[in-house]
Parts: sequence; C-alpha cells; structure tokens
Amino acid sequence: MDEAELYKKTKRVSLGLTELEYQSMLAQANAMGFDDVVDYLLMLHWSSLRQEESKQEKTIKKAPSPEGRYYPSKVFETTHGSIYKGNSSILMNNILGEKSIDLIMTSPPYGLVRKKDYGNEETNRYITWFEEFAEGFRRVLKPNGSLIIDIGGAWKKSMPTRSLYHFDLLIKLCRDYGFHLAQEFYWWNPAKLPCPAEWTNIRRVRVKDAVNCIWWLSPTPYPKATNRRVLQPYSESMLTLLEKGYKPKLRPSGHNISDKFKQDLGGSIPPNLIALANNESNGAYQRYCHDNNLKEHPARFPAGIPGFFITMLTNPGDVVLDPFAGSCVTGEVCEHMGRKWICCEISEQYVLGAKGRFVQQHIVAGGMESSRSEPYKIWPPLSLPIDETKEPLVEDGGLLSPRKKKKLAQEEHDPA
Ligand SMILES: C[S@@+](CC[C@H](N)C(=O)[O-])C[C@H]1O[C@@H](n2cnc3c(N)ncnc32)[C@H](O)[C@@H]1O
Repeated sequence: MDEAELYKKTKRVSLGLTELEYQSMLAQANAMGFDDVVDYLLMLHWSSLRQEESKQEKTIKKAPSPEGRYYPSKVFETTHGSIYKGNSSILMNNILGEKSIDLIMTSPPYGLVRKKDYGNEETNRYITWFEEFAEGFRRVLKPNGSLIIDIGGAWKKSMPTRSLYHFDLLIKLCRDYGFHLAQEFYWWNPAKLPCPAEWTNIRRVRVKDAVNCIWWLSPTPYPKATNRRVLQPYSESMLTLLEKGYKPKLRPSGHNISDKFKQDLGGSIPPNLIALANNESNGAYQRYCHDNNLKEHPARFPAGIPGFFITMLTNPGDVVLDPFAGSCVTGEVCEHMGRKWICCEISEQYVLGAKGRFVQQHIVAGGMESSRSEPYKIWPPLSLPIDETKEPLVEDGGLLSPRKKKKLAQEEHDPA
C-alpha cells in the first residue's frame, strides 16, 4: 500500500454537538496542540486504549496496523532519521527498542494549563496526561542517556500568579519515575515581549516573563556529557587576565584563585542560562510552509536549543528522539550534526510542514551557526537611577486596574 493510501480517511462519522460543547472541545484541542477536534478525539481514544491495556498488564506489542493512522507509522526518512506520525507514547512504549535512545530532546505541549482557570486540579490533569510519556521515556532511554524537557511556564487565568505545573512535572519525574535532575537550565529569550500585558504594562506589578525552564534529567546520576564542547568565548576581562597574568589570591568569597586561572582552555564554561532569541522569520521551513499552504508551527524552539544539548550530550551516530516534534527542529539539527534521529508528531499538518526541512539541502540551523558576533546584553539590577518618592508601590498589588481605580476615585469625588 502506498503512503497516500495509508492516510486516506475512508470512514465518515457525523457528530452532534452543541455550540458550547464544540467550542469547548476545540479550545481544549488547540490548547493541546491539535488543529481540530478530530485529531484531539483520536488522541483521547488511543490514550484511553493504552491506559486500559496497561491496566490489564497486557503486552501490547503488535505491528502497527496499516489502517490505524494513530498507531504511529514512519512517514518520512532521511540519511540519518525518520519522522513518525502519531502518538509518541505508543511509539515509545511499543515500537522503539528498550534502552535504544541516547538523548530525548523535546518540548511538550504546555498550552493545557494556559487557557483556563487552573489550580491544582488542572496541574494534576497535565501530570496524569504525561504519565504514559514518562513511562515511555524510562523505557527507551539508555542508562547513560539524558532527557531534556524545554517547558514554558504559565500564568493562572486572570491572576498575576503562576501555575506550578512544570515544577510538579519535574518532581513527579524524579520521585515516581526515578529520574535524576542532572541540572536545571533557563532559556532566556531576549526577543520576548512583556506579557501578560495586563500585569506588566498596565498594572505594572510584574516583570517580563522571558525565561523557559529546561529540565535536564537522567536515569542515572552520571549521564554521559562534556562541557568542553559548549564553551563560550572568554570575556574581555578574562582575555586581559590571560594576556597579562593573574596574581593568585584569596577572593572575598573565600575562593582561592590560583595561577591555574592563567591557562587558556579555549573558552569559558557556560552558565546554565542559555540566551537565545526566537525570532527566525524567513527560514526555508517558513518558505516551504508558505509555498505549500501549510500552517507553520506556532511554538518552535530555535535550533540552538537542541543544538546545545545534542553537542554536549551525544556523539555522532548516537540516537536522538523528539517525541513532541512539532516542526522537527530537533531532526533538522541532528541531520546537520550527524546524529541519528527519530521525530514523532501527532498533527498531520505539522508533519507535512516538517518534511519541508529535508526536501531541500539547506539543512539548518538558524540560530546554531554563530552568526551573532556580539553577546546579548542584560543590565545588572538597578542600572537606572530612580526617585522612589515618585514611584510609589502599587499597594493593592494590582487587584484593581488603573481604569477601575480612576472610576472609583471619580465616583468618590462626585457621588451624584
Ligand atoms: C511545543 S510543540 C513542539 C515544537 C517543536 N519543538 C518545534 O520546535 O517545532 C509540542 C508538539 O507536540 C505535539 N503532540 C501533542 N501530543 C502528542 C503526542 N501524543 N504524540 C506526538 N506529538 C504530540 C503537538 O501537536 C505539538 O506540535
């Protein structure tokens, strides 16, 4: 059967829904990264089937059924990798080999907690949804492999406070699935706009949310790694020091700076803060989507994010998996760097777009090539003089909007 046949939808089902049911389902589908209700319902179906099967402790290893597009199947291959279309928890728990993966590099959907009014209950739902993926991660990762999860934070709806879901996920992965937190990273996107505007620009009680958490986890405390491959250029002061030498002395912090500091080791050890803008706007991927009338993936990470971890944690020929592949940035970076790769994405639209990364030999990697000769700049705190008397604190913590306060003040002034 050829590939086109495999994905032909031959069955039609008409579904009666109220407007409210439809809108609510669509919102939830979008929040989870699906374009439409159909993909969302199918995902729920396959997830529930899997949960049922694991409950009964059945072995569900079976060949992907050709007509079941939701049993993931390979839809595209390159020299080094493959794209699967379907639910990655099924791929990881049934199709891929145990302990076959050196690095899982991924960014799961996190919209689930974004669009509604979420407290603990919603966080719990996310964590429950994640369980079958966590099982899959444990199953396919080699003991000295790594799991990198780039995960954005979320604001609670209509509140100037944050959801804890990504911290809960981290704790769950460590406590219940035995992962070790090798290190937490923070990805600072200097191009992020202040948001949510209500709390940053209007009520002025929060600052710009410009940092994503990246959890580096591992099945053992000793995943293979080297920081020697991700060194940064030395700062001006370090270059001067290397040139002119350094007088060994005890720092006020108690650190003994020995004359070993004079050695040029090829660069400085980077911090766990990755500074990288996410503003690629004219790449070949976008052109491909545009030319083929495909929706661009709205939540892509820049190539430098997978690039950094793939370089630090894998060797050429190692196998990298991205189970929430989206537009397949991870695959493209691996192709470029000679790593084997497997990407799995549930949305057909995004898979079709992802293929565009490999049809032309442009291979990457916007943001990975060191096109930027200047480091990003971040000011130390309190770099502007401030007259505190002119900038009183917002005493109600932003509970009322400036407009509401003005209205109340007017009413008080003019009770009629
Ligand atoms: C945050 S995006 C990843 C974007 C990707 N890092 C990129 O740069 O293009 C998360 C993706 O996970 C996909 N997804 C959600 N559930 C999935 C599942 N069960 N299996 C595979 N992919 C899934 C969504 O369709 C979405 O495209």
